[in-house]
Amino acid sequence: MNVSRAFPGIHRLGAGSVLVLGFLLLLSGCDRHGGRDAGRAATMREQPDGVSAPEDLMREHGVLRRLLLTYQECIRRIDAREELPLQTVKDSADIIHAFVEGYHEKLEEDYLFPRFEKAGVLVDLVKTLRMQHQAGRRLTDDILRLANDESFKGPDDRARLARDMREFIRMYGPHSAREDTVLFPTIRQVYSPREFDVLGDTFEDKEREVVGEAGFEKMVEKVADIEKTLGIYDLGQFTPTPDVMAPAKAGSTQTPDDSSPRVSDARGQR
Ligand SMILES: [Fe+2]
Ligand SMILES: [Fe+2]
Repeated sequence: MNVSRAFPGIHRLGAGSVLVLGFLLLLSGCDRHGGRDAGRAATMREQPDGVSAPEDLMREHGVLRRLLLTYQECIRRIDAREELPLQTVKDSADIIHAFVEGYHEKLEEDYLFPRFEKAGVLVDLVKTLRMQHQAGRRLTDDILRLANDESFKGPDDRARLARDMREFIRMYGPHSAREDTVLFPTIRQVYSPREFDVLGDTFEDKEREVVGEAGFEKMVEKVADIEKTLGIYDLGQFTPTPDVMAPAKAGSTQTPDDSSPRVSDARGQR
């Protein structure tokens, strides 16, 4: 700190006054650092290293949603008779099979659904969610079978693959949204605070056990690679263009629904 600049009149003070001022500055520095450290400690207490069970499940839904977008792009290419690298379908379905169905949904089935059923809370919702997990697995088995190079032959296979992916997207959008907004916020009602904390640790242990160290981060990287292959990684391409954002002119017939081709337009410009 430049003391003369901070305290322009300091040269007029006597030696004793300067000593007092120095002491006060020292105290103020201690307090400032002490306050910052105390604040940091409080933050660390509020945000432990681990993630809570709902946060864990919700970020896994984020991976699922990105995979639904890769499926959506695959469907678009099938419908438009554009080239579709089958490996992207296979890679997406592999992650869904191992990470979403084999890990994420297993957590829900082992740790959440039974607890809700035992407590008699959201029983009908849980019943539907269970059925949808089974339906999803059947679709994924079919998608993986079709994505196998040898068995993928012609237009019928492409149509069936598109249909399976469409059904998968149609179900998992509402499925994950309902879990995020209804099931997960209710976990605290069926678990005690202590059990709730342990649940977060259990989920993290399971993640390491099933998908290895930094499993979530690795899955995100894999999904990003698929998105890059399909040309849907660049987030900016999904931002409405300025002409769409401009106020509609009088007499214009354009409606918000006219905007659907924009994503492919943007892709074509890259
Ligand atoms: Fe689920
Ligand atoms: Fe889920």
